[in-house]
Amino acid sequence: MYEDILTKIINHPDSVTLEEVAFVLSNDQLTPKLFAKADEVRRKYLGTEVFLRGIIEFSNYCSNNCLYCGIRAQNTNVRRYRMTSDEIVERARIINEQDIKTVVLQSGEDPFYTKDMLGHVISAIKSLGLTITLSLGERSFNEYSYWKALGADRYLMRHETADEELYEKLHPGDRFENRKAHLLELKRLGYEVGAGSMVGLPGQDDFSLAKDILFTYELDADMIGIGPFIPHPETPLKNAVAGTLEKTLKMVALTRLFLPDANIPATTALGSIHPQGRQMALKCGANVIMPNFTPSPYRAQYALYPNKICIMESDTACGECTKALVRTAGYTVSQSHGYRRRRMREQL
Ligand code: 5AD
Ligand code: FES
Repeated sequence: MYEDILTKIINHPDSVTLEEVAFVLSNDQLTPKLFAKADEVRRKYLGTEVFLRGIIEFSNYCSNNCLYCGIRAQNTNVRRYRMTSDEIVERARIINEQDIKTVVLQSGEDPFYTKDMLGHVISAIKSLGLTITLSLGERSFNEYSYWKALGADRYLMRHETADEELYEKLHPGDRFENRKAHLLELKRLGYEVGAGSMVGLPGQDDFSLAKDILFTYELDADMIGIGPFIPHPETPLKNAVAGTLEKTLKMVALTRLFLPDANIPATTALGSIHPQGRQMALKCGANVIMPNFTPSPYRAQYALYPNKICIMESDTACGECTKALVRTAGYTVSQSHGYRRRRMREQL
């Protein structure tokens, strides 16, 4: 039964039901089989290569109030910062010097950075020969289009949860349909699009998680970021229980079976709940890692959740550290820009 479902996901993903995905998620005995299959698929489609993406968290101002997030607008205990355009480009230069070819520009939803300001940053970074991923939250369709024309390559915006009711509880005044419309527009504009979700949110069950997987499959997401929910003490969810390592790894592995050629990161949140979390994710389907290049003192202030890793390290250490991590886990550091390379689905 269990193994039949895994085979069906690999060979005929369109015919897999929500119940079947939820069943795999609920079964713990055969998890080693799932992880082995995910690594097998990963090696078949992507070899042993891991792509590095240097992330710059350039502003922790946010106009939103997502219930789970440490930098939500209503958290007045956050020391807020904004990097200047020059500071951002300088960090991109450091990423380039470390031979990392993608820069991820991430911030809270911060309208201080206008279309033109970000346009200038994008142009300056593109002129270094780097690939750019934007992760700025929801902006106008017009802005998405403008930045794409200036050379922005990818856009990360997790769908957070595909359980519509839960989505609305966690995002006051917002709707899942709206998030979906933004992701579809980004696809239409030709971005490589990243969706993804948190695992272990309060009120989430295996059916909600199964919906996350089917959603990213139907969207044909180019990138899928999956991390455990970690309760932040200064949010309404402070007393909730964190997501587990095991469930998060199962989500990564299942996502790899559904989307064999997608780019799936071993997330920082996974590394934050377990010292080997990212290494384990690489071994069950993940093929991307995102070293942190946010300069101090800002880095510690970008606290979406507590106990985030890499806070005490020198602010240029993560590049070499993640390269060593990849090698120790038995994989290779890719020299390419790491675009999604679409491949025909193959029988296994
Ligand atoms: N725990 C884990 N992940 C979180 N994120 C935000 N808050 C938390 C938290 N408390 C994730 C969201 C967001 C990404 C940048 O960080 O999924 O999209
Ligand atoms: Fe940041 Fe290891 S990845 S210190």
